[in-house]
Amino acid sequence: VADLLQQLLTSPIGRQITQTLSLPTPPELRRYEPGQALLPGPALVVGARGGAVRGPITSILTAAGVEVVDAHVDTDSGPADGTDPQRFAAVIVDATGIERSEDLGQLHDLLHPVVKRVLASGRIVVLGRPPEDAADPSARAAQRALEGLTRSLGKEAREGTTVQLVEVVAGAEADLGAALRFLLSARSAYVSGQVLRVGRAPAGAADASDWHRPLADQVAVVTGASRGIGAAIARVLARDGAHVVCLDVPAQGDALQRVANEVGGTTLQLDITAADAPQRLVDHLRDRHGGVDVVVHNAGITRDRTLANMERSGWDAVIAVNLTAPERIDDELLRTGTLREGGRIVCVSSMAGIAGGKGQTNYAASKAGLIGHVEALAPQLAERGGSINAVAPGFIETDMTAAMPVAPREFGRRMNSLSQGGQPVDVAEAIAFFAAPAAVACNGNVLRVDGQHLIGA
Ligand SMILES: NC(=O)c1ccc[n+]([C@@H]2O[C@H](COP(=O)([O-])OP(=O)(O)OC[C@H]3O[C@@H](n4cnc5c(N)ncnc54)[C@H](O)[C@@H]3O)[C@@H](O)[C@H]2O)c1
Repeated sequence: VADLLQQLLTSPIGRQITQTLSLPTPPELRRYEPGQALLPGPALVVGARGGAVRGPITSILTAAGVEVVDAHVDTDSGPADGTDPQRFAAVIVDATGIERSEDLGQLHDLLHPVVKRVLASGRIVVLGRPPEDAADPSARAAQRALEGLTRSLGKEAREGTTVQLVEVVAGAEADLGAALRFLLSARSAYVSGQVLRVGRAPAGAADASDWHRPLADQVAVVTGASRGIGAAIARVLARDGAHVVCLDVPAQGDALQRVANEVGGTTLQLDITAADAPQRLVDHLRDRHGGVDVVVHNAGITRDRTLANMERSGWDAVIAVNLTAPERIDDELLRTGTLREGGRIVCVSSMAGIAGGKGQTNYAASKAGLIGHVEALAPQLAERGGSINAVAPGFIETDMTAAMPVAPREFGRRMNSLSQGGQPVDVAEAIAFFAAPAAVACNGNVLRVDGQHLIGA
């Protein structure tokens, strides 16, 4: 969908109006292309005292061909000879050693001189520990403080720079690769102000041999794949090497076939709310592919009304598609072992499921329920060497959001740290990240792809 306002705002006259009205000008975000370098410039790696992940980070970056600057930067004014200070595509801060609130000042000292030296579409990643794993109350408070720092710095960042916190479980330092690469790469263009947790990868978990085709030889099924975000997910999973089974209702058959042809995949026409849908899906996957490696629950509907004006049928339809169907399908996939050992499930939740939405009691209930589903199944998936995670999109440019009235649409589009709506591909990239075998150390996460909403949660 052409974003006319964006074009207007980035024209010279538009920029003037924007400044007068103090509307943020949307920066152009660096997005992923196959073969692209992980970072378009050097990465600065710094650490607070006692940190444990600087070494592993440096190894990951070096293996990825990134130039690592591991030096103390204590001024933002640059070299004494008047040359421009060096600028960085990423700044990575090891804060795992922070154990008391008094230690937090080190983060000010490490970040203050360099925040203005980050290039456009830059990346700032802070690494800490899960606060609840802390040995004592002061360590827990200090680690929890990292979240406030990260979320605020995300709101201060300019020119498409994103800021994230990665909570690394002790002993999982060697399993950081997939998460760190995703957050540094252009694949995470529309993810900011988020907390991602990395646990210990199950024994025997795959190392990625090819980071540009992490899904080679994998079979994935995507529900609601005929259009919008689902079609983008099918494209990105196929680009990353997967055979994609594109699933949608029979009424979407033609559009579904077009997507499947485009991505070299196959189709399955199925209403996921049908009583026999889980069984039919299992039969299809077993007969044609002997099982499945990646399941993406993307199909979703809205029936927005305030609760006072909502019919029971509107409530039931939304819960049935968005929540009950994924629950029943996952039960059957797990019960029958159709989801192969090490398999990954990714659920498409929504910002509404986290922050709530006016007129969306049914929708938000379904999407919050999906997060509960992810949390409940995460231990089971870990036992099987796999994972289940949720991706929660904010305002994404699709037919659904194009149909919104102008005022709430423009409001939704602009009111985030990146001052623009996301693209379906941005959601798809986050899903592809969780779908990759090398990312199984990330389990039970809810990752927002929302440019960091400025209001609500
Ligand atoms: N667009 C956004 O801004 C946004 C924001 C947050 C979350 N989401 C979520 O992302 C997902 C995709 O959204 P979208 O904007 O692409 O929507 P969309 O309406 O364009 O696509 C949804 C697809 O799901 C299919 N579907 C619906 N009911 C089905 C059923 N019973 N069985 C099989 N398929 C069914 C539809 O036919 C359609 O192809 C949804 O879960 C939605 O809730 C979207």
